[in-house]
Amino acid sequence: MTMAEPSEETEASANKGCKVCIITGANGGVGLKATEKYAAAGYEVIMACRDQTKAEDAISGIKRASPDAKLAFMKLDLASLKSVRQFVDEFHTAAKPLHVLCNNAGMTSGFRNGKGPFKTEDGFEVTFGINHLGHFLLTLLLLDDLKKTASEAGEARIVMTTSSLHDPDGGGMRGPSAHLDFDNLQLLEGSFNGELAYKNSKLANVLFTKELARRLGESGVTVNALCPGFIPSTGLNRNESAMTRFMMANVLSPMLKLKGVTRTEDQGGECVYHAGTDPSLKGKTGGYYRDCKETESSVESNDTAVAKKLWDVSTQMVNLEEEKNL
Ligand SMILES: NC(=O)c1ccc[n+]([C@@H]2O[C@H](COP(=O)([O-])OP(=O)(O)OC[C@H]3O[C@@H](n4cnc5c(N)ncnc54)[C@H](OP(=O)(O)O)[C@@H]3O)[C@@H](O)[C@H]2O)c1
Repeated sequence: MTMAEPSEETEASANKGCKVCIITGANGGVGLKATEKYAAAGYEVIMACRDQTKAEDAISGIKRASPDAKLAFMKLDLASLKSVRQFVDEFHTAAKPLHVLCNNAGMTSGFRNGKGPFKTEDGFEVTFGINHLGHFLLTLLLLDDLKKTASEAGEARIVMTTSSLHDPDGGGMRGPSAHLDFDNLQLLEGSFNGELAYKNSKLANVLFTKELARRLGESGVTVNALCPGFIPSTGLNRNESAMTRFMMANVLSPMLKLKGVTRTEDQGGECVYHAGTDPSLKGKTGGYYRDCKETESSVESNDTAVAKKLWDVSTQMVNLEEEKNL
């Protein structure tokens, strides 16, 4: 006997009442592990990815082990403000609640390959454009959804995946220190440094988290940032030279693993899941977490004047001043 495919209506009613989570960059690395965890906890996970084939492969993989997992691909390219707006329009058409938004996607154009700067569709340096501006616009366009869910369900959460590299004193690698120079925010003047671009974009993630938390106040929507740890197995280093990738995989990573410095993708995914769901974090906002524990973020990330300035500049860059007066 052949079983009938579930109709869209049946699937929609089966999902009714379950919590909804959007995860950017859900098709691989930390985001994929986070997706598995939210799905296992009964969330409907909207996998906001730029590559449909990769997302569908990821969905098939999860469904093989967990056939009841509620997963849906929705196209989102954070390198395109148009794509971000289309994603939000599509999400609104579906008229779903939004309990957790995980801003997890991230990239680097390479730390030491001497390449770049590369630009997004809108002309922004890619690292700043994808890691910060794309998520900035996405979050602000989804704020009313999060607030509505918070008023109905008691809370809604935003989770921002940053990196300890945002912090010059964070015990990470040597090299240029994260610092936002508003006269050269995207590092387009002078010689481009991909490592600094990445670190600055992750500093922008923390500054945005803290400024947003201040503005959200008692709305019931909380926002926290986390570092998933150094996880050499993900795709994050894909734009490094072949030699750098070889050295990382065969020399640096095993050495750091022995020292207990590295983390697994599963541990990284757990950090994203913990920040979005752990009952102990209810009402906690504006924090920075490592290994699921709250810790201090960098001095600059706590500078409220810098955070306010970044907010103002970012709203102009994504053309949001008219719409959002938070
Ligand atoms: N791995 C580490 O050591 C480490 C350490 C600290 C922080 N982090 C942070 O952890 C997060 C996840 O990174 P990961 O390590 O899991 O790396 P990853 O395996 O490379 O995953 C990054 C994800 O982001 C997506 N992405 C990149 N550009 C995008 C765009 N324009 N639009 C939409 N999605 C895009 C990728 O999609 P595609 O597959 O289509 O490229 C991928 O799904 C990042 O924010 C990263 O900064 C990682």
